Amino acid sequence: MSDQSSAIEVCVAGTGSYVPERILSNEELSTMVDTSDEWIVTRTGIRERRIAADDEFTSHLASKAALKALEQAGMQAADIELIIVATITPDTPTPATACYVQQQIGAARAVAFDISAACSGFLYAMKIAKRLISDGAFQNALIIGAEKLSTVTNWDDRSTCVLFGDGAGAAVLRRAEAGEGAIVATEMGTDGNLTHLLEIPGGGSAKPITAENVNQHLHTLSMQGREVFKIAVTRMKEAAEKVIERAGWSADDIACVIPHQANLRIIDAIADRLAVPNERVFVNLDKYGNTSAAAVAIALDEANRTGAFKRGDHIVLVAFGAGLTWAAAAIRW
Ligand code: UT7
Repeated sequence: MSDQSSAIEVCVAGTGSYVPERILSNEELSTMVDTSDEWIVTRTGIRERRIAADDEFTSHLASKAALKALEQAGMQAADIELIIVATITPDTPTPATACYVQQQIGAARAVAFDISAACSGFLYAMKIAKRLISDGAFQNALIIGAEKLSTVTNWDDRSTCVLFGDGAGAAVLRRAEAGEGAIVATEMGTDGNLTHLLEIPGGGSAKPITAENVNQHLHTLSMQGREVFKIAVTRMKEAAEKVIERAGWSADDIACVIPHQANLRIIDAIADRLAVPNERVFVNLDKYGNTSAAAVAIALDEANRTGAFKRGDHIVLVAFGAGLTWAAAAIRW
C-alpha cells in the first residue's frame, strides 16, 4: 500500500525507549540449551538480550518509553490525542495495552488502541497515525512498539530462544510547522499466504489455551528461520527502495538506515542491496536481540540520541515480520 500526497505534513517530535534491567547473555543461554556464544554471534550477531521482571508488563515498558519520547518532544501526556501500541504480547487479550498506557502516563484525552502486525507494527502505527493527523482527525499521536517476548518464547527450543528479547520504543508525531522535518513516504505490505512461517499458533480462537496446547508449547513463537530469512531480505529491500524512490532520494542522500533488528546477516544483505555503506546502517541487535515491534522503535531512539543523524537529514526505517508483513518509512528529520 503506497503513500498519497497530503497537504499537512507530520513530523517526529520526540523519541524514547526503555529496556528491562536484566541482561541474559549468550553464555547464560548456553547453560540452558545446547548452543554457544560462537553459534549465536556468527549466525545472528546477537550477544545479549533483556528480560522483563515477572511484575513488569508490556504496558510498563511502553509507558516508560512513552514518557521519554514526550519529554524529548517537550509535551505533556495530557496533550496527547491518540495512542497506538504495536505489540504481539499485550498485557491482556482485551482491553488493549494502549488503554493501560493511557492510564499509566495520564493521557486522559487520548483515544487508545493496539495493532498487531508483529515486527512491522511500529511502522504500521506510524503510517496510521501520520494519516490520521494529516487528515485533521488528531493534532498529535504517541506511537509505541512494545514487547515482552520472553512470555511467548519456548525456552527449550534453541532455534528460537536465542533470538528474542523484551523492550519498548516510542515516538511522538505531530503536525509539522513550516521548515520542520516530515514523514515523507511510507510503505506497507502483507502476504497472508505465508502465515505458517512465523507464528504463535495457540492462545487464540483457533487453538485456545488448554493444558494440552500449553504442554505442546503452542503458545510460543515458532519460525521456519531459513525461509523467513530469504523473504525478509527481498521484502525489506523492496520496501526501502519504494520509499526512497517516492521521496525522490538516492542511496547517497541517506544519512541513516534503521532496519528491523532480527539478524545481522539480513541487515548486511539489505545494506549491500541498497548500496548504503554499513556505517550508515544502525545496528543494536547485539544488545537486545529481536524485540519484534519494539526493535525499529528502540533503534530509532538510540540512533537519534547518539547523533547518528541530525535535523534535516534523510533517514529510512524498514521492518519485516510475521504475517508475513513488511513496512518502510522515509523521514526528513
Ligand atoms: O523478526 C521477524 C523476522 N525474523 C527473521 O528475520 C529471522 C530470519 N531467520 C534467521 O535469522 C535465521 O534463519 C536463524 C538465525 C533463525 C537461523 O540461522 P540459520 O543460519 O538459518 O540456521 P539454520 O536454522 O539453518 O540451522 C543451522 C544449524 C542446524 O543444524 P544442522 O541441521 O545443520 O545440523 C540447527 O539445528 O544450526 C542448528 N542450530 C543451532 N545450533 C546451535 C539452530 N539453532 C541453534 C543454536 N545453537 N541456537
